[in-house]
Amino acid sequence: MHLLQTLAFLLLVYHARSVPAPLRPQLKGRSFKVDRVRRADYVAHGPTALRNAYRKFGIVPTSFGLDLEDFEPINLKDTHPAGNQTDNEPEPERTGTVSATSVQSNAQFVSPVIIGGQKIIMTFDTGSSDFWVMNTAIPEAEQQGHTVFDPSKSPTFKVMQDAEFQIRYGDSSYAAGMVGTDTVNIGGATVENQAIGIPLEVSPSLLEDQASSGLVGLGFLSISTIEPKKQPTFFGNVVPTLDEPVLTASLKTDGVGEYEFGIIDTNKYKGKMANVTVDPSNGFWQFPSTEFAIGDGPRQTITQVPTAIADTGTSIIMASPEVVEAYYAEVKNSVFASDSGGYIYPCMSEMPNLSIAVGGTMVVVPGSMMTFSPVGTNTTTGESMCFGGIQSNQGVDVQVFGDVFLKTLFVVFDHRGPSLGIATPA
Ligand SMILES: *[C@@H]1O[C@H](CO)[C@@H](O)[C@H](O)[C@H]1NC(C)=O
Ligand SMILES: *[C@@H]1O[C@H](CO)[C@@H](O)[C@H](O)[C@H]1NC(C)=O
Ligand SMILES: *[C@@H]1O[C@H](CO)[C@@H](O)[C@H](O)[C@H]1NC(C)=O
Ligand SMILES: *[C@@H]1O[C@H](CO)[C@@H](O)[C@H](O)[C@H]1NC(C)=O
Repeated sequence: MHLLQTLAFLLLVYHARSVPAPLRPQLKGRSFKVDRVRRADYVAHGPTALRNAYRKFGIVPTSFGLDLEDFEPINLKDTHPAGNQTDNEPEPERTGTVSATSVQSNAQFVSPVIIGGQKIIMTFDTGSSDFWVMNTAIPEAEQQGHTVFDPSKSPTFKVMQDAEFQIRYGDSSYAAGMVGTDTVNIGGATVENQAIGIPLEVSPSLLEDQASSGLVGLGFLSISTIEPKKQPTFFGNVVPTLDEPVLTASLKTDGVGEYEFGIIDTNKYKGKMANVTVDPSNGFWQFPSTEFAIGDGPRQTITQVPTAIADTGTSIIMASPEVVEAYYAEVKNSVFASDSGGYIYPCMSEMPNLSIAVGGTMVVVPGSMMTFSPVGTNTTTGESMCFGGIQSNQGVDVQVFGDVFLKTLFVVFDHRGPSLGIATPA
């Protein structure tokens, strides 16, 4: 050795020094993008979206609105599965039937997920913490309209002995079955032994309403339903391989959007990002939400339910009752209609902006983004009536800020803290 090699080494060192060091070493951190797409067959139907949200959070409506004689709901075909609804369901459950199309696509936004090599279209849900998938163990008739995961065709699938999972909603809906592990790849982010709920039984109402082909729960471990031992979410499992322990959501207005694991892309937002402390104790991305304002009106205190969660798995905003009442008081000819289970108004109405607190930051949801879907006709005036994207949470534990809210923002779900980052999309 030595002289020459030493010299070569010194030269290399010298050379390296003269080149600026890369800002981010390539091997250290990684990030992964996942497209979020509107299902081609999706038909927005406000009353269904509200019903699903109520079911998810176990909300039994206590106020039903007015029976309107001059309201004719959009007549969607009744293609309920053969299974029947339970008898004790509240009034809105019996009204507003939904077409096969919307039955199969109540998940408005979905993303491709690869489980054991099989591509399944699933919903990203920051409002729950189980990963579960429609599969071949479910009776064939009930698989209709879903892409199903076939564990027997996956070389990497393993049964998790003695484990079971059971999601039970506030009404009698449930999904329950065994648990397995498999390799899950989301946009290139890979977890080798992801716990996966493999329901053998899914109640008819849930089949009808949870009709993307599965959920990727992105909440906190405490609300995992796997027994006897709760199992980490995909997000929890993938964090150690990421540059930063984050999931960002850019949920665009046009329906297309993107999730990204591992990096906060500064090109995706403008201005300052607000940092909101999250309280994970209920398993949700939860934060105080104590104030609101309608249009240019004064700030008002939210007294009934001054706390909220950010939930990508819910379509609408379910706000504290006084917020909703104050909002529709400013919408001309709006009415709380029993046929729809929520507030409706002439589609031509000018909707006020809503400001509502996320921690210490007031977020403005523009009135122009508040209408969720057409819902029927006022037979007196012939006007089309629309269903609002903000509806009452009926006074239960939390306000739920779903897609109508989240798509106005760039949102960072950050395990540090944990915290939420919110900013204006670029
Ligand atoms: C229909 O319009 C009439 C006239 O504005 C109004 O009185 C009635 O309450 C409306 N009905 C509905 C269902 O909006
Ligand atoms: C509903 O289901 C129950 C139990 O499966 C059955 O006994 C009943 O006849 C069904 N009712 C209708 C209306 O289908
Ligand atoms: C809502 O806010 C936007 C921008 O902040 C403003 O241009 C618009 O006029 C507001 N709309 C209403 C109905 O007040
Ligand atoms: C919020 O602040 C905490 C503490 O400084 C930090 O760890 C976290 O990454 C921040 N979150 C966001 C989204 O900026």
